[in-house]
Amino acid sequence: MKTVLITGCSSGFGLEIARYFLARDWQVIATMRTPRADVLPPSERLRVLALDVTDPESIRQAVEAAGPIDVLVNNAGFGAASPAELVPIATVREIFETNTFGTIALTQAVLPQFRQRKAGVVVNVTSSVTLKALPLIAAYRASKAAVNAFTESMAMELEQFGVRAHLVLPGRAPDTRFAENAHAHMHGLDNEAYAGLVRDVFAQFQDTSAPVTQAQDVAEAVWHAATDPSSPMRIPAGADAKAWAAEVG
Ligand SMILES: NC(=O)c1ccc[n+]([C@@H]2O[C@H](COP(=O)([O-])OP(=O)(O)OC[C@H]3O[C@@H](n4cnc5c(N)ncnc54)[C@H](OP(=O)(O)O)[C@@H]3O)[C@@H](O)[C@H]2O)c1
Repeated sequence: MKTVLITGCSSGFGLEIARYFLARDWQVIATMRTPRADVLPPSERLRVLALDVTDPESIRQAVEAAGPIDVLVNNAGFGAASPAELVPIATVREIFETNTFGTIALTQAVLPQFRQRKAGVVVNVTSSVTLKALPLIAAYRASKAAVNAFTESMAMELEQFGVRAHLVLPGRAPDTRFAENAHAHMHGLDNEAYAGLVRDVFAQFQDTSAPVTQAQDVAEAVWHAATDPSSPMRIPAGADAKAWAAEVG
């Protein structure tokens, strides 16, 4: 029986990815900053472990407690909506600490076992916004584009060991806690120079007629990456992400 370790399982995509793998008879190690087993269906194949990807000691303890795993899914992350000029540098650092350095650090902690066993898959959840420029998310986009670049180079190094790495690029998913969490880091509405742009962009975000991504789309894409060795490096997830990927070619 195969084992997957997933980060950021308290809500949204991470929670759905955990449910998806549990329903397909995998052993699931669902990690959360604040562990709560009751968000997932009870199962003998489920373990919930504490993991804050920005904390090296938390990474060490979680990887040790997890034991051998077959697939690592780096899903934990958050965004901030702010003009590049106004986003506090402390916020930029926080975004990179979680989205970029957290992903890299956990991957480095898991890779030795994959390399020694000559098997394993790393799936990094980034974003379809890395495919196309959008205003107000410069820092977030940069943090995810960095993971794309890191993962693509890493995959070339790991091929010789039979270890795979893939990127899942979701589109906009209004049903997760992402927007609510990003809201806490919002800037610009009270700024004379940028308020108009911020209002326009937020109006576009509210457009309910545009295609969106569901958590299930992301779970399916992660499953594809984990189980199909012929899956591509970049896997768009969701109707909007697939349309963008087709647009940029
Ligand atoms: N929703 C979208 O529109 C969208 C689109 C493209 C890509 N994404 C990406 O998809 C991933 C999942 O987002 P989501 O939409 O499911 O949002 P979400 O519901 O806010 O879930 C984010 C998860 O990340 C966790 N997390 C945040 N910081 C963490 C840390 N330092 N260590 C461990 N876990 C941490 C959160 O845990 P807590 O409960 O402890 O905060 C939460 O479980 C993120 O990487 C996001 O950037 C989202």
